[in-house]
Amino acid sequence: MNMKMLKSLVFLMSAMILVSCQSKKEESTMVEKKSFGKLSNGEEVYFYTLTNKNGLKAEITNYGATVVSLFVPDKNGKLEDVVLGYDDVSGYEKGESYFGGIVGRYGNRIGKGKFSLDGTDYQLSINNGENHLHGGKLGFNKRVWQVVGAENKMGGSFIALKYVSVDGEEGYPGTVELTVNYQLSQENELWINYTATTDKNTILNPTHHSYFNLTGDPSKTILEHELMIDADKYTPVDKGLITTGELADVANTPFDFRKPKAIGKDIDADNLQIKFGLGYDHNWVLNKHPEQVFKFASVYEAVSGRLMEILTDQPGVQFYSGNFLDGKSKGKHGVMYQYRTGFCMEAQKYPDSPNKPEWPSATLKASKKTPYRQTTIYKFSTK
Ligand code: GLA
Repeated sequence: MNMKMLKSLVFLMSAMILVSCQSKKEESTMVEKKSFGKLSNGEEVYFYTLTNKNGLKAEITNYGATVVSLFVPDKNGKLEDVVLGYDDVSGYEKGESYFGGIVGRYGNRIGKGKFSLDGTDYQLSINNGENHLHGGKLGFNKRVWQVVGAENKMGGSFIALKYVSVDGEEGYPGTVELTVNYQLSQENELWINYTATTDKNTILNPTHHSYFNLTGDPSKTILEHELMIDADKYTPVDKGLITTGELADVANTPFDFRKPKAIGKDIDADNLQIKFGLGYDHNWVLNKHPEQVFKFASVYEAVSGRLMEILTDQPGVQFYSGNFLDGKSKGKHGVMYQYRTGFCMEAQKYPDSPNKPEWPSATLKASKKTPYRQTTIYKFSTK
């Protein structure tokens, strides 16, 4: 190749790079940011709107890294909001239902709030009967998160939120830096990627707490939704909802969702575990091996035709059928959320795992080299 040819080639290549950079620029837009009101201490928080090319829309606030609304199409293409929540931040500040938030440091319950790690006993705050639930009195869902990145783009829109939980917060050892990245893909998936590090050995088991109602009408119950969970076993609980340590077979029990079944079919069965949970409020032991993302559940609502499939790399899922909703909490657009009008699918380690050494561990070591990672995906389609 002579000098002239080489020069034109270099020119051509630089032009191509420039064009591709420009078109990349055009493809991405700022994420819309609006005020979500002020907290009781006067601090203003915001909500951010992610969109994709199919019209899906996720509204996320930096209070609790909370999904406030999620608009997905029904079988006729009609977009409706499929999650429960409040109109402004004061609802979340007062609320006790964990609507749409990231819960932690330890999602779910720890018996009497006690555990020991590296020979030291820890006492966490008690906020659920005699137990510790969802990170304590002021868990991650009640904290203001910092937005560390947000973009709407063709490859997927995202918002990344960070929370630094200091050493001793709610009784936990070590300062944990957790980043949650919500991404809305063009395939109508909401990805939740978690990464975290700690400066002292600690425990960490964050999860996502959206209440779904795929009808798009939260005045209806979720009892007709058909649920499938790929799990042969679940973890029975005592009357305080602390796991007993047993992994019990779902076969011939109301807990068998291996084939799609209406949530309402066995929800009031004459069964001690159902009585303890007031319905379903239990952890299922997922059949597939953890540490890679796999599909473990699907939920189908026939009238709207909406199908939600759920994937995770976690070993368990808490399926909660909204048994504590009592019609007293005023949600979005003034709807009073009644009993069982939303359900949660919270991917996580099995509850009370710090006190069950034989179960997958929630210990996070003080090492920057092996950070905590979790991926959970809610995928929407119709049929
Ligand atoms: C979780 C728990 C439930 C309940 C809800 C919030 O799913 O397992 O018992 O506390 O959160 O109301």
